Amino acid sequence: MALTDKYKNIIDKLSDTSDLTDEELTLILECEDEEVNEYLFKRAREVRESIYGKDVYIRGLVEFTNYCKNNCYYCGIRNGNKCAERYRLSEEEIISATDSGYELGFRTFVLQGGEDMYFTDDKMCEIIRTIKKNHPDCAVTLSIGEREYDSYKKMFDAGADRYLLRHETANKDHYEMIHPKEMSYEHRMQCLKNLKEIGYQVGCGMMIGSPYQKTHHIVNDIRFIQSFKPEMVGIGPFIPHHDTDYKDEPAGSAKLTLRVLSIVRLVLPEVLLPSTTALGTIDPLGREKGILAGANVVMPNLSPTGVRNKYLLYDNKICTGDEAAECIRCMSLRVQKVGYNVVTSRGDHISFNV
Ligand code: SAM
Ligand code: FES
Repeated sequence: MALTDKYKNIIDKLSDTSDLTDEELTLILECEDEEVNEYLFKRAREVRESIYGKDVYIRGLVEFTNYCKNNCYYCGIRNGNKCAERYRLSEEEIISATDSGYELGFRTFVLQGGEDMYFTDDKMCEIIRTIKKNHPDCAVTLSIGEREYDSYKKMFDAGADRYLLRHETANKDHYEMIHPKEMSYEHRMQCLKNLKEIGYQVGCGMMIGSPYQKTHHIVNDIRFIQSFKPEMVGIGPFIPHHDTDYKDEPAGSAKLTLRVLSIVRLVLPEVLLPSTTALGTIDPLGREKGILAGANVVMPNLSPTGVRNKYLLYDNKICTGDEAAECIRCMSLRVQKVGYNVVTSRGDHISFNV
């Protein structure tokens, strides 16, 4: 049997059963052969199209604070980076960003920020309630890090629908290498469980090519995703930031990121899978390639242009100068060019559609 046939058989098995052995996963993750990679992307596209057709969901991202109490070693807005210029949007600015996003067609707003305790549960609940009052047909997604069960519950009761909290790595040893000792792997994982129990549509996820990451760590991530069954998975390449200890580390590979996107699509066919800004940063056509590898979500930036270039998790981030309207137009064209359509529905996970 030709070598490529052996790999294609493994990919067929993955597509048919949504599962592989660790050895098979490792082979596919490490396979650089163009023909095999294209085959993997094609099978992932087929599965995605059988469920979500050619639709690509858009989420309006509002990066509302870059204050953060944490010190994740890889992150440009970590507390220890004294060079980061800090900002916080006012409640009015956040609401105004979502109001103009609504006019542009967005029906999901993602409020993302560092872990900024200025935004207490009460403040967050107030913001969520106002957005939901102004736009009852919209979904609100939060991405504000680790909080306790009661906080998550209050925000859910105030109307939040979804929550993104990347697990970062499903390997405790690896987690402890890239985070300071004050941060706990167990706590992050517990947060994910709590969010699910409360009833959020939950997104976990990881960086590809983060420092010290080996193929077996990605296998651990895939196993975690299979057992946790999140509604969303955020996957993007690690990109170094010049004010972190990892400034000289290499960025993650776009090709490996695409393979992981396809594998995640095949192990969890119904998942909502963003083609990330980080992927578009390391490859000018990264977001288009992500769509062609099975992703079905894009998240243009709705933050006011004045603060865009301050929410810098990594270097050379794209779309930091563009107005929201321009960004969505550009994104729609990019998606169309590869044969898909941006749609303005809420884009819930299929199991949450009533
Ligand atoms: N504070 C929230 C949290 O912890 O979930 C949300 C914001 S956090 C900055 C969003 C994500 O950015 C992290 O989960 C991490 O995976 C990603 N990130 C941070 N630094 C990065 C880097 N240097 N390259 C690529 N992604 C990065
Ligand atoms: Fe933001 Fe192209 S998607 S400018």
